[in-house]
Amino acid sequence: MEDFNDFRKQSLPLIEKEMEDFINEYTANEQLKNAMMYSIRAGGKRFRPLLVLATICSFNKKPQVHDYQVGAALEMIHTYSLIHDDLPAMDDDDLRRGKPTNHKVFGEAHAILAGDGLLTAAFQLLAISQIQQEQKVLLIQLLSKAAGTQGMVAGQAGDLQGENQLLSLTELADIHEKKTGALIEFALLAGGILAQQPDEVVDLLGVFARHLGLAFQIKDDLLDATSSEEELGKQVGRDEALNKSTYPGLLGLDGAKKALEEQLIFGTQTLEKIKQISSEFYIELLQELVEQLRLG
Ligand code: IPE
Ligand code: IPE
Ligand code: MG
Ligand code: MG
Ligand code: MG
Repeated sequence: MEDFNDFRKQSLPLIEKEMEDFINEYTANEQLKNAMMYSIRAGGKRFRPLLVLATICSFNKKPQVHDYQVGAALEMIHTYSLIHDDLPAMDDDDLRRGKPTNHKVFGEAHAILAGDGLLTAAFQLLAISQIQQEQKVLLIQLLSKAAGTQGMVAGQAGDLQGENQLLSLTELADIHEKKTGALIEFALLAGGILAQQPDEVVDLLGVFARHLGLAFQIKDDLLDATSSEEELGKQVGRDEALNKSTYPGLLGLDGAKKALEEQLIFGTQTLEKIKQISSEFYIELLQELVEQLRLG
């Protein structure tokens, strides 16, 4: 299997091309297009689309254009969630991906509309893609579940309602799994489905994703408490300022670090289980994405 850095270098321009081509082709309103493109081009780790493609490559399948489109659709939804997350009515942030937040540049109304545009674009892109019909309907169903009132949107509501509250660890984990875990879970399920894996493998990819997704948000909470604006490209200390419910808030820094490590270990164990039942599974690319969540 190819080296992770090569994989990333090859995949990123293709994911970005699918997002930009779609926005260019279907967004006639210049101001709206500029606002959408601003956040898409601001960068970001592209963790979720890389997960879709790493999963497909892990089953020794060569990604096709429609696979990049699934990654692009997912990244557009994620980017919309960030634009709305930063709005004054939500986390009220000024910096994102190293740049002023969307509403700081385009105003609140256009930031809301840019988010609406990216959310809708994701489903339009999937609908017009060349994905095989049966898989297409399933992926649209899974993505709407992950992004909507059973997933990210519900998690964001829980996150806001959790401000100034003392939640139990179970309640907090549920919020994190919804607001962040759900889109990450979609990435793994979509990768498995597009690579035509049997249900038992796709189910295990889902288990892996749930550990990875929780780990991802625990790490985000930890970095908000310990990292710097220069490092993250976004303001830090916001969770404490807004009195959010977070892992470090509930468990302390050491407890949160332990919880993160635990999820990463469970994740690796799940990858090993997949390896046991699938002879064509190359564990390395997904394991590399796990390693990226380890604290340096
Ligand atoms: C930030 O996501 C919001 C969370 C769900 C924690 P990312 O850390 O993936 O942000 P980008 O896409 O790299 O900017
Ligand atoms: C955001 O969580 C989760 C989303 C669904 C966007 P955060 O509010 O912690 O993300 P950051 O720290 O602003 O990136
Ligand atoms: Mg938030
Ligand atoms: Mg935020
Ligand atoms: Mg955060």
